[in-house]
Amino acid sequence: MALLEVKNLSVAIRQKQGLITVVDNLSFHVDENETLGIVGESGCGKSLTALSIMGLLQGSQVRITEGTVCFDGVDLLILGPAERRAIMGDQMAMIFQEPMTSLNPVYRVGDQIVEVLLQHLKLSRAAAKQRTLELLDLVRIPNPILQINSYPHQMSGGQRQRIMIAMALACSPRILIADEPTTALDVTVQKEVLDLMGELQRHTGTAIVLISHDLGVIAQTCDRVAVMYRGKIVETAATKALFADIRHPYTKGLLNSLPLVDGDVEWLDTIPGQVPGIETVLPGCAFQPRCAFADERCSYEKPNDIRVAGGHWARCHYAGQST
Ligand SMILES: Nc1ncnc2c1ncn2[C@@H]1O[C@H](COP(=O)(O)OP(=O)(O)O)[C@@H](O)[C@H]1O
Ligand SMILES: [Mg+2]
Repeated sequence: MALLEVKNLSVAIRQKQGLITVVDNLSFHVDENETLGIVGESGCGKSLTALSIMGLLQGSQVRITEGTVCFDGVDLLILGPAERRAIMGDQMAMIFQEPMTSLNPVYRVGDQIVEVLLQHLKLSRAAAKQRTLELLDLVRIPNPILQINSYPHQMSGGQRQRIMIAMALACSPRILIADEPTTALDVTVQKEVLDLMGELQRHTGTAIVLISHDLGVIAQTCDRVAVMYRGKIVETAATKALFADIRHPYTKGLLNSLPLVDGDVEWLDTIPGQVPGIETVLPGCAFQPRCAFADERCSYEKPNDIRVAGGHWARCHYAGQST
């Protein structure tokens, strides 16, 4: 049994035109000890998927319309907030793109981690402080004894993200959902934080769902990849298998949009056009208007998932043909 199993998850947004589906019948799983990467351009529904899993969807205009989210065999979507917190409050953790939105600016970072520990684990204050020092050391904050007293604004972006990772790991969660955790950081710090997450995972065995718009980040870090386009997974495979034999034109486009050389500014061709607005109704394949390989059929017939090999699927009429 997978640790996390998302089945037929749909999320809709209430707009003037009515309910618009932005996460569309999404299914995927994450195994214990595994890193799954979810990649796709901005607006394709990655964050709404993460928030749905965590039970953090907010606002009256957005809601889950269908599906199940099973963690260790329990469907989280049928639990109330209190029941949910009791069952898996410390088993699932999430980190966000901008740590400043999750850290409280008026409390010292050390105290914020201590609070998390006190809330979730039955520790004395002294033990929680000791554990906080260990956690800061674990995420390689230099001089923890000094830094435990810092306020968030006194730290760099990279350090704040390390603090968020320390907080997320404080209760040894079984799964960590990281939504664009390094997007706000510059390339060198980004690599350090990703390496740290990988190292911590080898150490703790925590499963990770890493969400990014950057296929390069995903390729470096993940065991398996799910490529998302307009609320749907359009291709999924083990990372190695995917890069050896990409079948969906969108995945190819993402790959070709990566910088040629690490950090270099030279870019290969990018995918033409933009993701069509959520209100645009497309009768055929959602990628068809931007696809160099599309033909007549793609404009009127929605593609199904086509099995390429064991564990490798692509949602394209022509995924059966290697290109
Ligand atoms: N709370 C919300 N209310 C209305 N629309 C939203 C809300 N959150 C996200 N959206 C819309 O849903 C779509 C998917 O958003 P999101 O999941 O944030 O994408 P991603 O994380 O892949 O960039 C986008 O078109 C976005 O504008
Ligand atoms: Mg997002």
